Amino acid sequence: MTNKTYLDLIEKATFARVNAYAPYSGYKVGAALLCSDGTVFKGANIENSAYSETVCAERVAFFHAINKGGDRRDFKAIAIVGGKGNKITDFAYPCGSCRQVMSEFCSDKFKIVLYDGKEVKVTTLGKLLPDNFGPKNLGK
Ligand code: THU
Repeated sequence: MTNKTYLDLIEKATFARVNAYAPYSGYKVGAALLCSDGTVFKGANIENSAYSETVCAERVAFFHAINKGGDRRDFKAIAIVGGKGNKITDFAYPCGSCRQVMSEFCSDKFKIVLYDGKEVKVTTLGKLLPDNFGPKNLGK
């Protein structure tokens, strides 16, 4: 994947972040999920007054893509941006639950692209969730 692909995906995640519903934490997250056919699914976090019902940006993007079905389930990379208020302030690494959801649909090579407003970091699911419990454990 080229640097331009990563930068385009970061831009899409930044646009997605605008739609975050985060009145409680004020921390808005945007995600853009790239499929092998070039389709990009976006997501932003959706908080709830019953806090535990909050859904992260990454899972919104994944569930949207899974519902579309077909080849759009072949995922290449996800860009994630986050920060308080209107600014991207820090590297918004995916939480443990999101890493686990990713591992259901993606290999260790799946790219995770992070941006703190200054620098781009590219890592992989294998690095962020080594030795995962996954479909293989259940013979899938
Ligand atoms: N959040 C995400 O959207 N993705 C993550 O991986 C971590 C956290 C959201 C959930 C909540 O709305 C806010 O960030 C603060 O935890």
